[in-house]
Amino acid sequence: MKVKNLYIETYGCQMNLSDSEVVASIMEKDGYGITENIKEADVIFVNTCSIRDHAEKRVRNRIQEFKHLKQQNPNLRIGVLGCMAERLKETILKEENFVDIVVGPDAYRDIPRLVEETKSGLQMANTLLSLEETYADINPVRLDKNGISAFISIMRGCDNYCAYCVVPYTRGHERSRDPKSIIREAEDLLSKGYKEITLLGQNVNSYDWEENGKKVNFAILLKMVAEVSSDIRIRFSTSHPKDISDELIEMIANTSNICNSIHLPVQSGSTSCLKRMKRSYTREWYLDRIEKIKSLIPDCGLSTDVIAGYCGETEEEHKETLSLMEMVGYDYAFMFKYSERPDTFAANKFPDDVPEDVKGRRLQEIIKLQQEQGYKSNLKDVGKVFRVLVDNVSKRSELQMAGRNDQNKVLVFDRKDCKLGDYVDVKCTSCTAATLKGEIV
Ligand code: SAH
Ligand code: SF4
Ligand code: F3S
Repeated sequence: MKVKNLYIETYGCQMNLSDSEVVASIMEKDGYGITENIKEADVIFVNTCSIRDHAEKRVRNRIQEFKHLKQQNPNLRIGVLGCMAERLKETILKEENFVDIVVGPDAYRDIPRLVEETKSGLQMANTLLSLEETYADINPVRLDKNGISAFISIMRGCDNYCAYCVVPYTRGHERSRDPKSIIREAEDLLSKGYKEITLLGQNVNSYDWEENGKKVNFAILLKMVAEVSSDIRIRFSTSHPKDISDELIEMIANTSNICNSIHLPVQSGSTSCLKRMKRSYTREWYLDRIEKIKSLIPDCGLSTDVIAGYCGETEEEHKETLSLMEMVGYDYAFMFKYSERPDTFAANKFPDDVPEDVKGRRLQEIIKLQQEQGYKSNLKDVGKVFRVLVDNVSKRSELQMAGRNDQNKVLVFDRKDCKLGDYVDVKCTSCTAATLKGEIV
């Protein structure tokens, strides 16, 4: 019997990558193999992102290419999954009449039925959000290629409703996953030889589980996962500044295999702007948390997300973002122009009034400053020795390998006799703004 093939393409955040692994698992149980060759596919899924307008436009363009494939092969089934599916629902089916199914992030278990129903020529959609679904019992099919680093989703959804953000609408309410199922998944990864686990959620540090009167918060969960094996490094993303407790910082400081690297999106360095963003912390609170991190974990890697040109942002507020970035000295940052998302609080309440050229100029100033800061941070590492998990062959040369240190920085070094998945000690000998170069010692 011919095996049917699924081809799946993923956009957006790590949560989406992790969800695609859940979808792959559900489809495998339904008799599908996973292919990386789109021409072999019987079913094409695109797991989509709505975070900015640009992200949606990219997907819109991409699915037009699937349309041509379907003209050649009318039995091909095309599915739009993820955040864009949730935001636009059935309108995708109307606007793109070659799309067969639309499935939101909480309805993936229903995919086999939806695909089956399309055989009678119907277009199908399920965009119901759930208060409970965490896919806890589904063992994801790992779609990473190196077998070294894997994700575990520990929670879904978001209840923060930051004014600019579409995620609470596309992913539904926040819910934590049973810690027992998380530990089981970590043990399974260990048995398969994985060396690095990243715990995922929109706001991992608000993780909250209670059973028989016993509470598990994120700090405790981190410890439990770290104890699965000292040979596995633990990372996590993303943390919200409002929930980064002393207990959590101490746990990271005191547990050797929890990586000393924290991604702490600030969005803006201005208290008044943060208030309009409904971020629920001030500039001072954020800087106090950074101080606490630096005092307990002096070598902690720090990264952030910044939005330029949010509604009503004044030149002073923008300058406060620059000055905060200078004070913190991030190792790297993801930097974006504000993109209005329909039906969010900001879209309903505030005009998107920073002119496009001003947004662009502010973003460039932020990027330029971050490049200088990143280079400075890299220069400080020259001469130091880092424990690195080898996870890649260098893009430039087969004779060189690459890996990340505890702080999540990439080091490139001569291969010598190391192999993928090894831990090696690498002395940093030089750097660029983007990478550290070194040699195994
Ligand atoms: N849950 C994470 C972030 C998820 S989205 C957190 O709260 O930190 C990733 C990043 O996209 C955000 O941190 C923000 O910087 C950016 N982002 C979200 N909505 C945006 C919008 N409407 N326009 C521009 N950037 C946005
Ligand atoms: Fe969006 Fe805010 Fe939730 Fe992050 S915390 S996903 S920015 S609403
Ligand atoms: Fe995008 Fe949805 Fe993630 S909007 S950033 S894929 S949660």
